[in-house]
Amino acid sequence: MDKPAAGSTPHTFRAVDLIRKKRDGGELSRAEIDYLVRGNTSGDIPDYQVSAWLMAALLRGLSRAETAALTDAMLHSGVVLDLSALSARKVDKHSTGGVGDKTSLVLAPVAAAGGLAVPMISGRGLGHTGGTLDKLESIPGFNVNLPVDRFLSVLQKCGCAMIGQTAEIAPADRKFYALRDVTGTVESPYLICASIMSKKLAEGIDALVLDVKTGSGAFMKKEEDAVFLAELMVETGERMGKKMAALITDMDQPLGLHVGNALEVEEILDVLRGEGPDDLRQLCFELAGWMFYLGERTSTVAEGKQLAEKLIRSGAAVETFRSMVEQQGGDPGVIDDPKRLPQAKHTMVVTSPRDGYVTAIACEQVGTACVILGGGRERKEDAVDPAVGQVLHKKVGDRVTKSEPLCTIHYNSEDRAARVTQLMEESYRIDEAPPRQQRPLIHRVIPTTGEKN
Ligand code: URA
Repeated sequence: MDKPAAGSTPHTFRAVDLIRKKRDGGELSRAEIDYLVRGNTSGDIPDYQVSAWLMAALLRGLSRAETAALTDAMLHSGVVLDLSALSARKVDKHSTGGVGDKTSLVLAPVAAAGGLAVPMISGRGLGHTGGTLDKLESIPGFNVNLPVDRFLSVLQKCGCAMIGQTAEIAPADRKFYALRDVTGTVESPYLICASIMSKKLAEGIDALVLDVKTGSGAFMKKEEDAVFLAELMVETGERMGKKMAALITDMDQPLGLHVGNALEVEEILDVLRGEGPDDLRQLCFELAGWMFYLGERTSTVAEGKQLAEKLIRSGAAVETFRSMVEQQGGDPGVIDDPKRLPQAKHTMVVTSPRDGYVTAIACEQVGTACVILGGGRERKEDAVDPAVGQVLHKKVGDRVTKSEPLCTIHYNSEDRAARVTQLMEESYRIDEAPPRQQRPLIHRVIPTTGEKN
């Protein structure tokens, strides 16, 4: 493990000058950015000055060089995993978050079964979106809080390991993020880029595939905003010597059919067994194809996709998942018997008010409904109910008849279910005619260079 750079902040600059410089649209040097990040991490530069600088950065933007310098400074504020003892290429995937977005749980074992090492450090649900850690914790016993040495030993044994951010990884991002959260500066694409990339690069990876979501259930509702962020992250990663690609993918309706932690684990087990809904399968194969390509396991993305399909058909991927679950203390029995996952006490069906076609599903609202059921957090300190959520029976483009089920709500509290029933009824738009155009699942790919497909 590489240790963070030690020592107190050299007093070469004054924080107030760096705030003024950014306020007036200037470009900070690498040394100036290092000074700010180190100074705040060590406590020498107070939060109010960093907050002022963050607001100036949000309003003025950062150059590509400043974004890379900020990423690098935050990355080196903590430990960077040294995975050089592993001969496999180290590849990860990061998603900007959505509803029913469960691909990590398929991709880690698929990529590991195909010979890559996947050291995945993931997050919890944020706002209306679900989080990988919450999903994994719905598997009884699964421990996402492994110390780094245990994380590395699982990685060595299984080819993949999945944990949450530790205190040693990018501590400057933790401090900056907490300030952004309360100063209206979360939304800057430059600051988002540095925050995400510093944590991902601390995993010691060679390559990273980004799944940048766009649509009503994504944080970036507009495609141009998603593309801007994706390009920024790809360029930042490449500047730091990583192989990068970003897929802009659809989040205008939930991905797959299951929303909610244990329900989503059940669905990924279907995919790992070669079943599951088409959109989820297609996205998993596409992202896995890119992971194999960037990880130099295949010479094209198309070959990577074929390899992923083969690893699922042969059962190798599900066996890798089983061994990771076992190594991380989870009940491997859930793999053959998903009913061992937490089950909600009650279910209730929401039906269609009329004949017609589903023309839209308010995706963010579906995510919020899951949070209200208890599947996410309304406040930081809330406990998550792993069993609750929704199973969709109809998606955009499907024909429905009056009284036909649209979705089933899995719940443990009558009060919450009553609120959610109305939200789910309102989330479905049913029109006489089918939608004129279906949105594509993959909107575009932002590649590095060369022949990819
Ligand atoms: N996720 C992060 O880790 N950081 C951000 O800034 C936004 C989303």
